[in-house]
Amino acid sequence: MNQVNNPYLPELATVKKIIDETPNIKSYQVVLNDPEKMKNFVFEPGQVGQLSLFGVGESTFVINSPPTRMDYLQFSVMKAGEVTAALHELAEGDPVGVRAPLGNWFPYEEMKGKKILFVGGGIGLAPLRTLILFILDNRDDYDDITIIYGSRTPPDLCYKEDLEDWEKRSDVNLILTVDAEYPDWEKRIGFVPTVLSEVAPSPKNTVAITCGPPIMIKFVLEGLAQLQFKDEQIITTLEKRMKCGIGICGRCNIGDMYVCKDGPVFSLAQLKQLPSEI
Ligand SMILES: Cc1cc2nc3c(=O)[nH]c(=O)nc-3n(C[C@H](O)[C@H](O)[C@H](O)COP(=O)(O)OP(=O)(O)OC[C@H]3O[C@@H](n4cnc5c(N)ncnc54)[C@H](O)[C@@H]3O)c2cc1C
Ligand code: FES
Repeated sequence: MNQVNNPYLPELATVKKIIDETPNIKSYQVVLNDPEKMKNFVFEPGQVGQLSLFGVGESTFVINSPPTRMDYLQFSVMKAGEVTAALHELAEGDPVGVRAPLGNWFPYEEMKGKKILFVGGGIGLAPLRTLILFILDNRDDYDDITIIYGSRTPPDLCYKEDLEDWEKRSDVNLILTVDAEYPDWEKRIGFVPTVLSEVAPSPKNTVAITCGPPIMIKFVLEGLAQLQFKDEQIITTLEKRMKCGIGICGRCNIGDMYVCKDGPVFSLAQLKQLPSEI
């Protein structure tokens, strides 16, 4: 988009729809005000954008709608601090700034013909969602799809409509879990890494993609290693704080690598090459 001219200048956009996902997460379906720019907007699954509010600031969020569905760009925002709290005050029809697309993306070409295992927790389903929907829109290119997703309680599960859709599909194996017993919850109970070990998916011809709270990722990575997944078969996304988003300010670097430009998507093999500051 306008990055050719001034990479710091946000594109003006309008919030068309707001979805209350959980008590502290809302999704925003956003359309660029310039119809030509919206029509020509190109991005890849896993890329992020900076949403900005005039007089408040900007923050990074993954574009969690897939490039195969371009009526709008969807961002989901968990309330964390100043910018996200201000975004939660937005109403449908309000203006917002968008700087996107930024960063790299999931290697979906290399994943063709393989089984895909998604392991997510909480808002960590956001980056997985864009790839899941992209793969479902190109279903014949991929083998079995397993999604293990969990949250603290059932109301904390994101994208409930998608979850219902995926549950109904015979070509998706969706396994939902919550941390502890909850009224009327009849599905699994247990932390995501424990459920991963119980389900014990085979690593054969499989790519595992995981995103969630750091503590979940730590134990999921251990669980995948126990299941004999190799580092090259495991992909995750890093959430290092960003500022410029284009590899200039140095805010997000780890060694000589910039999370905003070289990431946020990395294989575990790539992450193990980095200095231990992550
Ligand atoms: C590549 C990338 C993708 C992201 N995608 C999403 C997304 O899809 N949805 C979403 O809700 N959030 C996402 N985030 C995190 C989001 O950018 C931060 O929560 C947001 O910037 C916080 O801004 P704030 O002004 O509200 O909070 P601040 O006042 O800046 O911070 C509030 C609290 O959140 C913590 N925090 C701030 N930024 C981050 C971060 N990047 N990682 C971990 N902790 C942080 C701070 O340490 C502090 O404790 C993503 C971050 C990155 C780098
Ligand atoms: S955010 Fe500025 S270099 Fe990455």
